[in-house]
Amino acid sequence: MRHPSVRPAVRRGLAAGAAAALLATGAVVLTQAEAGAAAGCKVDYVKNDWGGGFTATATVTNLGDALNGWTLEWDFAGDQKVTSGWTGTFSQSGQHVTVKNASWNGSLATNASVAPGFQATYSGTNAAPASFKLNGQTCTGGTSSPPPTSPPPTSPPPTSPPPGTRVDNPFAGAKQYVNPEWSALAAAEPGGSKISNQPTAVWLDRIAAIEGVNGGMGLRAHLDQALKEGATSAEFVIYDLPGRDCAALASNGELGPTDIDKYKTQYIDPIAAIMSDAKYAGIHIVTVVEPDSLPNLVTNAGGTAGSTDACATMKANGNYVNGVAYALKKLGAIPNVYNYVDAGHHAWLGWDSNFNPTVQLFAQVADASGSKSNVHGFITNTANYSATHEPYFKVTDTVNGTTVRQSKWVDWNNYVDEQSYAQALRTALVGAGFDSHLGMLIDTSRNGWGGSARPAGPGPLTSVDDYVNGGRIDRRIHAGNWCNQSGAGLGERPAADPATGIDAYVWVKPPGESDGASQLVDNDEGKGFDRMCDPTYTGNARNGNNPTGALPNAPLAGHWFSAQFQELLKNAYPALP
Ligand code: BGC
Repeated sequence: MRHPSVRPAVRRGLAAGAAAALLATGAVVLTQAEAGAAAGCKVDYVKNDWGGGFTATATVTNLGDALNGWTLEWDFAGDQKVTSGWTGTFSQSGQHVTVKNASWNGSLATNASVAPGFQATYSGTNAAPASFKLNGQTCTGGTSSPPPTSPPPTSPPPTSPPPGTRVDNPFAGAKQYVNPEWSALAAAEPGGSKISNQPTAVWLDRIAAIEGVNGGMGLRAHLDQALKEGATSAEFVIYDLPGRDCAALASNGELGPTDIDKYKTQYIDPIAAIMSDAKYAGIHIVTVVEPDSLPNLVTNAGGTAGSTDACATMKANGNYVNGVAYALKKLGAIPNVYNYVDAGHHAWLGWDSNFNPTVQLFAQVADASGSKSNVHGFITNTANYSATHEPYFKVTDTVNGTTVRQSKWVDWNNYVDEQSYAQALRTALVGAGFDSHLGMLIDTSRNGWGGSARPAGPGPLTSVDDYVNGGRIDRRIHAGNWCNQSGAGLGERPAADPATGIDAYVWVKPPGESDGASQLVDNDEGKGFDRMCDPTYTGNARNGNNPTGALPNAPLAGHWFSAQFQELLKNAYPALP
């Protein structure tokens, strides 16, 4: 599977004092035309501050009459500057911030909330705004003019769907399943026993994988083995959409673009039948739903340099959306299944012009599944190499007055690493109506970037490029490179609750399994040859026409690649004992 990194076709720097999309909160406000209607609002402002920068959500609840169109305003007390936002359209003039509803969230019923969020920079102090106005009226937490004819609400509106039987975090306190097939391959490698007892995901990458390929374990065998191990959580990747891997070739699948019925009846239905077997009810079954598919619809399906005909076809025929919605619905109906939808990675979707449409598409697909509660969370960095955390530079840093966003490496992205991206995405998704307990996962199997090339501190302040390139731990030639990366190491070991909003670090891509062959290899798995896996290739629009940085002599995607496993051990960070 692949993660083409795609910068927006039109990349937008932020005009001074202006404007990014932002979330808006709606509260009651009277406009002249509505004079006489009851108005009232309250705002809950929550920020996550790392010093010099922060993200915040302003959840506005409309305590008055229903609104059709809303504008939220506040004044910052300091020099806070919004750099990007979501769930609304944001503009700033001096200290004054205005957020107007987006086209899709203008109506705000009585007691309904909307939660615009944003990222901002500041120096000095960063106090919360002292007051907010909704449609021109100060939010006091009550209603005004005229007095309500019915009693005011006595309790706040529910913000999350009624609790089901699912736990908040399926990884917390769980004993995670160790796949014996991967474990044996890892243990057979020199040094491999240091990690062969780690939990990794099982990829259901074709219909035959449900029963087991070439005498290997199928889904039932894995779940039975999980019971034997006393495991209480296990991870499976749902990965067989029609027209799979539309922006790359290495993981093209078995189903053609129109095979949606086959996907439903021969792939999802049998998986759901097994997962719903009562004997597995004690296992939290975590599903990673269709890596790369929805992100490809956002960035690679037309209008950008990286677009492909295959992605345009999948957008036009609707089968990615239909397939994912069907998977979410069927699997989401099983109380011990936890669906996590793939959300690309920061160097793919971190620009506003990709980020905001992604949030909207996720909401649309979840709604198409019947309910947003079919989605337990989202996963970033699946099978990719983006660092969880860049320790030596932040997106808010500047060098001689120039923002690091302007460096060649960052290229105007709003994020420089996965954790900040995952957390901001989570905030935006909650703002778009997903459950406030939404949890994120980060695939840390190969994003460690240790070894001798790892910088020991920040880069020099001679230029913004020197600073970023000297300090970044991600040593890829370009952040759009994704295949069997040389220099990569194992990342953080799987762990529950590692950071705010993050349910777990997981190893979804099993270390040692190839991303794709470095040359054409005949096969009956539907897999093609993607030149991003060829170390002699000089790149395409999705990696800025740079060399690929791929290791040579790689086998087909999913096949064991000993040289890569050894590279990952050598460059592990944290280092192995
Ligand atoms: C391949 C799958 C494989 C998975 C995990 C994907 O890139 O297409 O066949 O199971 O990686 O290694």
